[in-house]
Amino acid sequence: MMRLDRFLANSGAGTRNEVKKMIREGLVEVNGTRAKKGSEQVDENNDVITLEGSVIRYSRYVYFMLNKPQGCISATEGNMPTVMDLIAEPYNDMFPCGRLDKDTEGLLLITNDGPLAHALLSPSRHVEKEYYVRLRDPIGEDYVQKLAAGMKVDGDLQCQPAVMKPIDAYTCTVILKEGKFHEIKRLFAALGNEVVFLKRLRMKNLVLDEDLAPGEYRPLYEEEIEDLRESQE
Ligand code: URA
Repeated sequence: MMRLDRFLANSGAGTRNEVKKMIREGLVEVNGTRAKKGSEQVDENNDVITLEGSVIRYSRYVYFMLNKPQGCISATEGNMPTVMDLIAEPYNDMFPCGRLDKDTEGLLLITNDGPLAHALLSPSRHVEKEYYVRLRDPIGEDYVQKLAAGMKVDGDLQCQPAVMKPIDAYTCTVILKEGKFHEIKRLFAALGNEVVFLKRLRMKNLVLDEDLAPGEYRPLYEEEIEDLRESQE
């Protein structure tokens, strides 16, 4: 048994506040009866819960989109603040799907869905990751082409081609299809420049929600989860 608002939020119907509003607006039914309160207890395995007439399946997995702030590490434990310290949710089996450097901001998926995380992180899947990059020195004329050709970093470590799009003289977006350690910073170091600010904007088709300030997070919507699962098999 669990609270109805938790059931809906965990299942990706919206944030806790959004689902409470949906319940107040009379959009949610439990076994054919309009629900009145988020605190109502439901049986996640046997009750039929609908939102605007569509049945909501209970998901045993949970998914949150975090806008990682600078100053914490992408790990579940350590002697420094971790991204998990920011997630106030009652599941003890969640972990960050992938890593961002301590001083990198932006999109980090927090989940307990091991198979999905494995699929997203597997090097053979070439899942796209898009970053916003600000550089110390102006962007060079040859950067787009050199990154597109696949650069070598630190002497002889070959990186896959990357798609760079300049925004202005110092800022650009870069799309990687792999995730070597400190890859963005190493690519620009190899070009004689330095990354002074780095933020992840997207992973596959999951786009960082602009409403999330650094340190804030929200559950993924059902549609976002479906998109991430696409071609997982
Ligand atoms: N590349 C980096 O250099 N750092 C990150 O955090 C992510 C990609």
